[in-house]
Amino acid sequence: MSRLEETTARNAAPALEAVGIVKRFDGVHALEGAQLSVLPGEIHALLGENGAGKSTLIKILTGIYAPDSGTLRRAGDDVQFANVRVAKRAGIVALYQELSIVPSLSVAENILLGDQTPSSGGIVRWGALRRRAKQLLDRIHQRIALGKLAGELSPVQQTMVAFARALATDAQVLILDEPTASLTDTEITELFSVLRRLRDEGVAIVYVSHRLEEVFELCDRLTIMRNGKTIVTKDVADSHIDEVISNMVGRAAGELYPERGATATGEVALAVEQLDGRRVKGVSFVAYKGEVLGIGGLAGSGRSELLRILSGAQRHVAGSITVDGRMLPNSPSVGRALDAGIALVPEERRSQGVILASTIRDNIALANIPAVSTMGVVSGARISDIVDKGMADLRIKARTSRQPVGELSGGNQQKVVLAKMLARKPSVLLMDEPTRGIDVGTKAEIYRLIRALAAGGTTVIAVSSELPELIGMSDRILIMHEGRISGEVAAEGADEEVLLSYCYGKADSHDDDA
Ligand SMILES: Nc1ncnc2c1ncn2[C@@H]1O[C@H](COP(=O)(O)OP(=O)(O)OP(=O)(O)O)[C@@H](O)[C@H]1O
Ligand SMILES: [Mg+2]
Repeated sequence: MSRLEETTARNAAPALEAVGIVKRFDGVHALEGAQLSVLPGEIHALLGENGAGKSTLIKILTGIYAPDSGTLRRAGDDVQFANVRVAKRAGIVALYQELSIVPSLSVAENILLGDQTPSSGGIVRWGALRRRAKQLLDRIHQRIALGKLAGELSPVQQTMVAFARALATDAQVLILDEPTASLTDTEITELFSVLRRLRDEGVAIVYVSHRLEEVFELCDRLTIMRNGKTIVTKDVADSHIDEVISNMVGRAAGELYPERGATATGEVALAVEQLDGRRVKGVSFVAYKGEVLGIGGLAGSGRSELLRILSGAQRHVAGSITVDGRMLPNSPSVGRALDAGIALVPEERRSQGVILASTIRDNIALANIPAVSTMGVVSGARISDIVDKGMADLRIKARTSRQPVGELSGGNQQKVVLAKMLARKPSVLLMDEPTRGIDVGTKAEIYRLIRALAAGGTTVIAVSSELPELIGMSDRILIMHEGRISGEVAAEGADEEVLLSYCYGKADSHDDDA
């Protein structure tokens, strides 16, 4: 082969290829012959249900885990990555939001941390460091003050700094595992334009997400995994969303949203009057027994703060909250709110909701002591009942209920938090982004569960950023804008555009007359 032919062949070779990858964790077959082939200059979606093996495959591609068997190829050559450094040297970098940033270091230091720090004779050349950091930020069109502490940046800025760092190591393969989970819509748009720019420069990008709309908007090809195996790789342009879903779940895609069922009664479960918080201003509304009340609004509109105040996690400045006819005291206590019958499933479930070192069973049991004990004596059988039910209802994928939560996939950890709160049978259940990070098959289960709870008399109040979800799961929708309720509509037949105009505070804001 001539030199030229060789170069051409190399360029056509996948930037990164994984063939027949097997990985087991004592008894769990995380990967059973997974395949992935990513070309230079493409954005390649990696899809699959919670626990399908996506994160495990990525950890193998980046040298965090060694595969039990299988082959990795980088630009056509067989490679083995003994650790993350070796993979990095081969041009492969993953962005995990949690471990990407050192909050106490400056932006410039974060970008050129470690190996990349320009130095002579062990002394850091600060001028060179700042110049290089600036070049890298310019390449992704970011203006972030180089001297600022990374901990003070917004989530998207932190992601951008992590990007710049990946570019500093001359990454040819960039892997993102659910990068948009904590980003707002504008930030997602910004992230996408950076990703497209890098793709056009020839970088191969692997993109893991549960948001299929994103995948269809951004990606060139997709690979679907199920139970540790690769099911199919296709061009996005040749794919249809229903077919993608049925390949992910291994059966035909059913209806995502259940029938509404009209279970809302006229009996008030929760009454909120003239509530003021930090951002929340003069919020008044009622929620009825058996009702599913959706709350929408842009990020920063006060939705999550409202839920935190209702759950006793944050103090309110003025106003009142009444549950089942009893007014809650304004001394925030999650325990007291729980006793009064209000429970919150928070948005940041991974950090706020579970003890990773404890088993699924212990996590669920600990949160439900009253339900599993009589006069101080805990009943193992009753624990088993609620744990088994929770695991079945939410389709938690685990070897046994005695597996530590830390060993579960990201989405399954979130399901444990849901199971824990659902088992408490609160009269008002608050949920912040109930399906974020949850795969599409389980989403349908969660909507069905919410309906079943409502049918049993529970009031469900759920915040969601996704308008189709708000419309599909709710009976009634409140929209917040700058701390106030800017609109209220019946979910049945609600129009996304109308909701969006309330989100931007455009439509006539009418004071709630509750
Ligand atoms: N360290 C570990 N110990 C034991 N089992 C593990 C470990 N890491 C992963 N697993 C198991 O491997 C399987 C695949 O998990 P993985 O995290 O790769 O899924 P995923 O596709 O990323 O899911 P999600 O969408 O929920 O993030 C799961 O059954 C998980 O419990
Ligand atoms: Mg994962």
